Amino acid sequence: MLPDKEIQKALKALDLKDVNPGASDGRKWFGKGPLLDVVTPVNGSVIARVKQADRENYDRVILSARAAFSDWRQIPAPIRGDIVRQLGEEFRRKKNALGRLVSIEMGKSIQEGWGEVQEVIDICDYACGLSRQLYGKQTHSERPRHRMFEQWHPLGIVGVITAFNFPVAVWGWNLAIALVCGDVCVWKPASATPLIAIACQKIMEKVLKKNRMPPVSCLVVGKGSEIGECLNTDDRVSLISYTGSCRMGKHIAQVVGARLGKTILELGGNNAVIVTANADLDLAAENIFFGAVGTSGQRCTTTRRVIIEEQVYNAFRKRLIAHYRKVTIGNPLDEKNQMGPLVDSSAAETMMAAIKTIREQGGKITVAGRKLTGEKYPGGCYVTPAFAEVPADLPIVREETFAPILYLIRYSGGVETAIAIQNNVPQGLSSAIFTNSLAESEAFLSAMGSDCGIANVNLGTSGAEIGLAFGGEKETGGGRESGSDAWKAYMRRQSNTVNWSGGTTLAQGIQFE
Ligand code: UN1
Repeated sequence: MLPDKEIQKALKALDLKDVNPGASDGRKWFGKGPLLDVVTPVNGSVIARVKQADRENYDRVILSARAAFSDWRQIPAPIRGDIVRQLGEEFRRKKNALGRLVSIEMGKSIQEGWGEVQEVIDICDYACGLSRQLYGKQTHSERPRHRMFEQWHPLGIVGVITAFNFPVAVWGWNLAIALVCGDVCVWKPASATPLIAIACQKIMEKVLKKNRMPPVSCLVVGKGSEIGECLNTDDRVSLISYTGSCRMGKHIAQVVGARLGKTILELGGNNAVIVTANADLDLAAENIFFGAVGTSGQRCTTTRRVIIEEQVYNAFRKRLIAHYRKVTIGNPLDEKNQMGPLVDSSAAETMMAAIKTIREQGGKITVAGRKLTGEKYPGGCYVTPAFAEVPADLPIVREETFAPILYLIRYSGGVETAIAIQNNVPQGLSSAIFTNSLAESEAFLSAMGSDCGIANVNLGTSGAEIGLAFGGEKETGGGRESGSDAWKAYMRRQSNTVNWSGGTTLAQGIQFE
């Protein structure tokens, strides 16, 4: 079943070689740092090597980005928007190959690989429209013949540091919005997914070249502790948009904060779904199954906890087990598989260790997560999804284990109790309730309800569209990306007052003769 041929075909389709330079200043490719092996979790083999960026390469990229910014900020926003529209068109054309490479490089199912590329196409469409809607407010001055308004100007260089689990979409959210705002991007992808980054960068460069535009998108493949840290500490980088762990996010907040740089942080989640006695249980089970098992439990929006009302606990549990029994696991390029491998074998070890901890702490493992071996599952990254029945206060439930482990928690005493359980974790990304009761739904959405950045009714915690702002509260970091007015974080605001009276009138009625 080794899909070697398919892998080779996918790499060729995107112009990737056995050894690929991993740094680009938008025009030239280079890489003098150590070679990085790219291992596919599909079968554990090395599929290519990447020459990483060293510090000198990094500096060259930043110099180029700075020069590009000087030109790009002068180009009218709607023309910048048209470049992003063309990028979206290229992604439409290459959706199949890019989706395949996402699956090959990090293991998500091909359906989800394509979905991720679609997310880039969507944000490009959105950003193109946005390029004509970067509105500032105007208001009335207290002084005669004065005009007051605000404008939004580009920031400069945006450092985009992305995670392995959404190796294309999260870059797309940042790049498309940053570019229409007049910024330039330097992208440091996760070390597990450099090939898809190289492929995207090549597509971007093609669009820029065709339009004779400055090189506003650059790439630096390298270690977080070295190249990531170069971005974090560099005064020339105005904004760091980071997606990843809470631990690293706290570090980045401090390092970038110490130089008073800006950050957008999209960190861990511990997303819960409340299922009340008024829920459609079939609908709930179907959605929770996708939320828990999709991307093999490696989305930051993955459903990790289900909080179920006593009366329907058993009926819901039965429905959920039925889904878990039917889950199809294997080669992610095979469309009939719902779940591919985890990103690497150490992720599988982490999952097994978590399952052991659940048992030690007194949780009951109802559906056992275990490692899959044998000919059908080469490479040591395939697992079965697990769920455990636990009390709400089991210590491990407060942590995000990046694997398909779902916790079932029982509650009684009304929706307020369920909301309190849901909010009682350090993270605050996504949440949902299944209910047909208007009062329960409104309680969940009210100021006394979910404390998360995302709160849904009768759908799961994952799979957000690009139209709203994406991000969360508490240890999730507070950043917002993608739609709504998230663009404001990529620009600087300027308040302007113009005096056309010919005389002096001081504000607040001050006399100063
Ligand atoms: C992430 O896991 O970092 O809402 C992003 C979702 C996707 C994006 C997830 N649209 O699940």
